[in-house]
Amino acid sequence: MDQEQNLDELLSCRLEFGRKAVEPCTIVIFGASGDLTARKLIPAFYHLYREKQLPAPFRILGFARREKTEDAWRQELRAALEQFSRTKPIEDAVWTEFAANVSYCQGDIAGPTAYKKLANQLASLPHEKLRRNLLFYLATSPSQFSQVVEQLHHTGLLHKGEAGDSEQRIIVEKPFGHDLRTARKLNTELTRYAHEKQIFRIDHYLGKETVQNILMFRFSNSIFEQLWNRQSVDHVQITVSEKLGVGTRGGYYEEVGALRDMVQNHLLQVLALVAMEPPVTLEAESIRDEKVKLLKSIRLMEPGQVDANVVRGQYTAGEIDGQPRPAYRHEPKVKPDSTVETYVAMRSLIDNWRWSNIPFYLRTGKGLPQSASEVRVQFRNTPHVLFAAQCGPRLDANAITLRLQPNEGISLRFNGKVPGTSMEIRPVRMHFSYDSEFGAYTPEAYERLLLEAITGDATLFIRRDEVETAWRIVDPVREAWEGRSLNAKEFYPAGTWGPVAADELLAQRGHAWRNPQPIT
Ligand SMILES: NC(=O)c1ccc[n+]([C@@H]2O[C@H](COP(=O)([O-])OP(=O)(O)OC[C@H]3O[C@@H](n4cnc5c(N)ncnc54)[C@H](OP(=O)(O)O)[C@@H]3O)[C@@H](O)[C@H]2O)c1
Repeated sequence: MDQEQNLDELLSCRLEFGRKAVEPCTIVIFGASGDLTARKLIPAFYHLYREKQLPAPFRILGFARREKTEDAWRQELRAALEQFSRTKPIEDAVWTEFAANVSYCQGDIAGPTAYKKLANQLASLPHEKLRRNLLFYLATSPSQFSQVVEQLHHTGLLHKGEAGDSEQRIIVEKPFGHDLRTARKLNTELTRYAHEKQIFRIDHYLGKETVQNILMFRFSNSIFEQLWNRQSVDHVQITVSEKLGVGTRGGYYEEVGALRDMVQNHLLQVLALVAMEPPVTLEAESIRDEKVKLLKSIRLMEPGQVDANVVRGQYTAGEIDGQPRPAYRHEPKVKPDSTVETYVAMRSLIDNWRWSNIPFYLRTGKGLPQSASEVRVQFRNTPHVLFAAQCGPRLDANAITLRLQPNEGISLRFNGKVPGTSMEIRPVRMHFSYDSEFGAYTPEAYERLLLEAITGDATLFIRRDEVETAWRIVDPVREAWEGRSLNAKEFYPAGTWGPVAADELLAQRGHAWRNPQPIT
């Protein structure tokens, strides 16, 4: 009896596959007065410090152009933390200790003088490892990334470690390039002064608990992995929807659009995790090898095939949650005749043994009725006998939904008998919710990513071949759209689930979008 009870205990297994201890280091943030630093980086560092995850000692050295005293910068950061911290109130004692490790270096990225000043500041740090173990965070405009790395090299602050054994690392923000050509150019420029293993390209989606859980879910549960293939799966839908429009970021968005902003990175990364083969080990290179292999097996489109497989859209005026929303073309800093897409729906086919001819539908958009990210694996219908023979399409096929955010969780949908004397069938849901199971502790993606970069684990960062392969997939789409005006079917009112053409894309194969369930 005792033995039986033990077998059903919820035992957890901590995976410590060679995780290195955190070594004392200095984090230099280029772009220290920017939005990203205020909204994401400083809150993440503060929480890591509060949870005693940062090395001892550590320093954060902010670098930006504006003149300001160290105290003024600290005050700005404190105000930002009040606004953006995931825990409130801010603990004064923790903040005071944390802030004592934070300093500021004013300078212009463009000239060598500032780097000498930075080098002097670093040289004055009291611990040898603080002077030598350097993590450079490039939170500036992407056009400045190469310049910073080159100057760091010339100043002797960045040494190229031949086998990736250098103590200096670089975190590179997105967007990484504008297309395959510019991504390759940036890769060449960065790897001139840093080994690939020193470069940590961020896609913050990979830091999300639920995205990491995709691999756990798939490869630690034999019941699901058996079904994860073309024999059982009918199609897969990956949705990343946002209620917000572009707001004040119109200028940025006009240069980017949804394809570059979301599909090339976040959606393709999620797709790779959902569809990749099991890696040989849990080490960074094994996982990244499998992701790249998967991305390489996505069928590339010729420009002439784009219209049949990809839909773009742009929101017009509408209403969300009872509030009127302007059209994209009326947002600040957006051209009145802009053709930039705020919505993309795409059918991808994966030419490998597991997924041959199974459509993977990706969609993302702004101005949609809900903000949610989820993966829905839609299974095949049962044979057309017994219940299916009588119920036809009203008998829903099984589905597994991995809800990435918000209301993180996993649902399994299957059919059950409605209690009563009649024979009535309807779908029911088995649901695992992170919050109910583990409490509402959800660290921000940046916390995890910063810690991984400090320890030198690149699993959650994008490798060179990965970023280039992703551009190879979206480039033909972008080229096909370039210079083409939008037709009536490509517009959608804000507050709806996208253009009609996106529904037609799925209808061609007898499918229909399953919208994320509203938050209850
Ligand atoms: N903000 C986000 O939520 C977000 C999300 C994802 C990715 N990113 C990426 O993160 C990066 C930073 O974005 P952001 O929104 O934080 O940008 P931002 O608010 O415009 O900040 C830019 C920063 O760069 C500094 N800077 C610009 N030119 C400089 C120069 N010549 N010398 C020294 N410093 C200079 C600015 O310093 P001064 O203010 O002193 O001029 C400022 O600190 C971008 O690559 C962006 O694509 C941002």
